Amino acid sequence: MVRETILSPQDFIYPMFIVPGKRVKNPISSMPECFQESIDEAIKTAKEIFSIGIPSVILFGIPEYKDDFGSSAYDEEGVIQQAVKAIKDALPDLTVITDVCLCEYTSHGHCGVIKNGKIDNDATLEVLAKEAVSHARAGADIVAPSDMMDGRVARIRKTLDEEGFTDVIILSYSAKYASAFYGPFREAAQSAPAFGDRRSYQMDPANRREALREVALDIEEGADIVMVKPALAYLDIISDVKEYFNVPVAAYNVSGEYSMVKAAAQLGWLNEEAVMMEILTSIKRAGADLILTYFAKKAAQLLQL
Ligand code: PBG
Repeated sequence: MVRETILSPQDFIYPMFIVPGKRVKNPISSMPECFQESIDEAIKTAKEIFSIGIPSVILFGIPEYKDDFGSSAYDEEGVIQQAVKAIKDALPDLTVITDVCLCEYTSHGHCGVIKNGKIDNDATLEVLAKEAVSHARAGADIVAPSDMMDGRVARIRKTLDEEGFTDVIILSYSAKYASAFYGPFREAAQSAPAFGDRRSYQMDPANRREALREVALDIEEGADIVMVKPALAYLDIISDVKEYFNVPVAAYNVSGEYSMVKAAAQLGWLNEEAVMMEILTSIKRAGADLILTYFAKKAAQLLQL
């Protein structure tokens, strides 16, 4: 009766990794119970997710080809574009979000285009806008830029509007930290940078006030929903963003946060279900309206019992 925070399957967004081909379901070794799936398999998973009350999925693509400019990111016949079409056809009421970034599509694994050994922020914006439009054209309800280039939300909003996609929502990875917790994801998405790191565009984990600046800029540029990422080591940031702004707040319970719990549970060192629920409840208590989590299915099933 006096509980302040109630978790619900409706809070969850389930991340999925889509690969080309048919009947492919590759286990991701560092993320037990997560898979790279071809579109036919992804449809089955999406149906299951939707049937247990989870309203949304976010799709990451592992493309057929990669080049220096990430051009497969906006290929109209690309794996994500096809996946969005197929999943929306099968499940029109499932909210389909796409991750908009270049790291899965560039041969060097960086989130932007490279010039003279550096990430070229402004040259990247055009590619991101093309990618977002191609996702919208395929039927995406929400596009989620995760690259952390400056000015990308404004550029994506303008381009979507010009192309007639005024209703497509932008969920911006606004306060995204340069975090070691993304390690397992980079195996899953085959997107580890070939050289250097992402610290020239992602945030310093030591900075708190900077997150508010990043969020304010994104909202000004047209973000409808803002995200803090990672979640568990950044509950203070989630709480600040919730307090200072008046838009929905999402938090990404990232791959490393998932793998730590899974590994400890496999060793018999932690009670997986109890720890999972405690973590998700804490993220919601801190202020997240939406939680992107690899635990979505397991947690939703438990909540329904
Ligand atoms: C970049 C992206 C990353 C994640 C989501 N989008 C990786 C990165 O920035 O290196 C990480 C998600 C996770 O760890 O679960 N497109």
